[in-house]
Amino acid sequence: MKYIGKDMSRVDGVAKVTGRAKYAAEYQLKNTAYGYIVQGEIARGTINSLNTGEAEKASGVLKILSHLNSPKVDEKSQEFRAFQSAEIKFHGQPIALVVANTFEQARHAANLVTAEYSKSAARTEFDTAMKDAENLVNASGNSRARGNPAQALADSAVKIEAEYRIPIEHHNPMEPHGAIAFWENGKLTVFDKSQGVFGVQNHLAVSFGIPKENVNVVSLFVGGAFGSALVPNYYPFITALAAREVGRPVKVNYTRQQMFTGNGYRPYTYQKISMGADKKGKLQSVIHRSYSNTASFKAFSENSSGFGRTLYSCPNYDSPYSIVKTDLPSPIWMRAPGAVSGAFALESAIDELAYELKIDPLEFRKINYAETDPETGKPFSSKALMDCFKAGAEKFGWDKRKLEPRSMKDEDGLLVGWGTAIGTWGAWQAPASTKITIKSDGTVHVGSGTSDIGPGTYTVVTMIAAEFLGVEPEKIKFDLGDSRLPQAPSQGGSVTTASVGSAVYGASMNLKKKLRDLAIEGSGTGILGTATADEMELAEGALRLKEDPSKSIAIEAILKLNGLSELVEEYTAMPNPERGKFTTMAHGAQFVEVKVDEALGIIKVTRVVEATACGRVMNPKTSHSQEMGGIVWGIGMALHEDTQIDHRYGKMMTTNLADYHIPTNADVFSIETDFVEEKDEIVNELGIKGMGELCLVGIPAAIANAVFHATGKRVRDLPITLDKIL
Ligand code: MOS
Repeated sequence: MKYIGKDMSRVDGVAKVTGRAKYAAEYQLKNTAYGYIVQGEIARGTINSLNTGEAEKASGVLKILSHLNSPKVDEKSQEFRAFQSAEIKFHGQPIALVVANTFEQARHAANLVTAEYSKSAARTEFDTAMKDAENLVNASGNSRARGNPAQALADSAVKIEAEYRIPIEHHNPMEPHGAIAFWENGKLTVFDKSQGVFGVQNHLAVSFGIPKENVNVVSLFVGGAFGSALVPNYYPFITALAAREVGRPVKVNYTRQQMFTGNGYRPYTYQKISMGADKKGKLQSVIHRSYSNTASFKAFSENSSGFGRTLYSCPNYDSPYSIVKTDLPSPIWMRAPGAVSGAFALESAIDELAYELKIDPLEFRKINYAETDPETGKPFSSKALMDCFKAGAEKFGWDKRKLEPRSMKDEDGLLVGWGTAIGTWGAWQAPASTKITIKSDGTVHVGSGTSDIGPGTYTVVTMIAAEFLGVEPEKIKFDLGDSRLPQAPSQGGSVTTASVGSAVYGASMNLKKKLRDLAIEGSGTGILGTATADEMELAEGALRLKEDPSKSIAIEAILKLNGLSELVEEYTAMPNPERGKFTTMAHGAQFVEVKVDEALGIIKVTRVVEATACGRVMNPKTSHSQEMGGIVWGIGMALHEDTQIDHRYGKMMTTNLADYHIPTNADVFSIETDFVEEKDEIVNELGIKGMGELCLVGIPAAIANAVFHATGKRVRDLPITLDKIL
């Protein structure tokens, strides 16, 4: 392989660092007006009166939208939509949009809007809401229990039972959500921060009752999203509505504070695990019960207890899951949704049981290694987790670990703890289309309407096209993030490279066939003999024989001989039907060192080694960045992130980056990420599994386990702040 598997810097890197890459709210359109969102100040109730008189008189104000004058949308969706009624469902709900000539005028006038409400008691406290059966929804998408977990637990020689809690957490991408909308001859264009332009296009077409063809959604660059831009948010519709009302382009951008109520969050999770093993450490039973919160208007579930079912060879397993309705905005998927929350509980519990058995936690995982899917009995399409154990443990020096908690100290007298955990994530693929055009000047255009929220999709798709079309990456232009491009999945679930990469690979193979036919039949040239396309490859700008690369014809020459200015291929890649015979998952092992200052309670994650098995790695450079990002995220989840709610008001309080803590450079020390490559011909032709979420899954548990090893204190509610270990 010439490009695949080798480091490539981002093709959009220079554009990004020089500011040439335009994010949704950065487009400068003539005569743009600005919208500012007014938010409600109760968590549940009704707006009795909305007072906009003062604001309407303020300078520059063009229009104020609210439930009093907005159309009601007929959309079959549980997503929150603004201005649909006087009912208030969460604190911070948008109650008006003030549109003015300038941003400052809009913001000032927004401050003049007041509302009077009839208040109802808000149910935002998780434990209280959970006790009320009316708020409980059975959300288990899992198969029922395998075996007889209750009996097996009762019969187990060694067992543990523990409860784990994870607070609400927010995505906080650098780029706040925003959109610019304008209408031309009944056609709507929206620049939106989005992980999936087709979803937004569809939502706007349905909401305005116009054909999809009349809505174009553009999202060329996204400054992080992590799930917060996976579903169409409420603001593109009100932005487009405002643009229609004032007859000008309108821009709406969330403030950082609005980012905490306008695009979802990781739900609050309460989990209870009972686990039993025999005396030799063989798992007998796992009962993993999980609850997470949702909104009153949407049944959001993320199956936190389900991911564990394929992880260990254990004959008796149950993972019931319920969601709890609360008067909060709706949660949404957030990087490794479900998996990381579930793994914090499960991988902590595995550590606890290993300590009960006095078995090394890594050894305990090996004893219970699942060679085949314990759920279905199917083989894994590939699973190099055992190799990850070996590679990671060696690099980390795990064999020097002393089992006893509080048994290791560094030269400064800090307690040292070593913890491990594993993670898993699905190796999914979704249908994806692409259109590739080879031009007679030797350049190539690739189009697919997916998105690149930061992992490096522009780069990796360019690499795959370069590899299989035999064209230098500099000659390839890849366009994404536009609903006029061929249909592709949203960037979510770590499926993009597997899906869009497979489409580009398939299109490239068909282009090779077309070029072969044109070279042999169309032009009458005999250089390539009667070789089939399979016996040929595209390389160095030419079609040539694999056996004898000297027998070659330049792609440009083939087009010229046939009098063609371009050659086009449209292709849709579907998931391999063979997948059904296998379980397709990606796996990883994490090893973490923490140092704890006992006097001050300060915890530092001083070293992380992560070994990941996720099929074939396309671009090691950007993949390494993905893994580092996941690890830093895991540090935040374990030690910092915590959205606090004042339940007297049902209001999220930590809605800024001063009060909502995330790791900074000073919190991040040594991170090493290794890939154990797997050759997997089942997942797709290129052997690609996802990695962007997998890398995070085991980290919070590995850190919590390391904190236990350092201090002897088991913290089961995140984040692990100093007050919990002092
Ligand atoms: Mo990710 S939570 O699938 O954007």
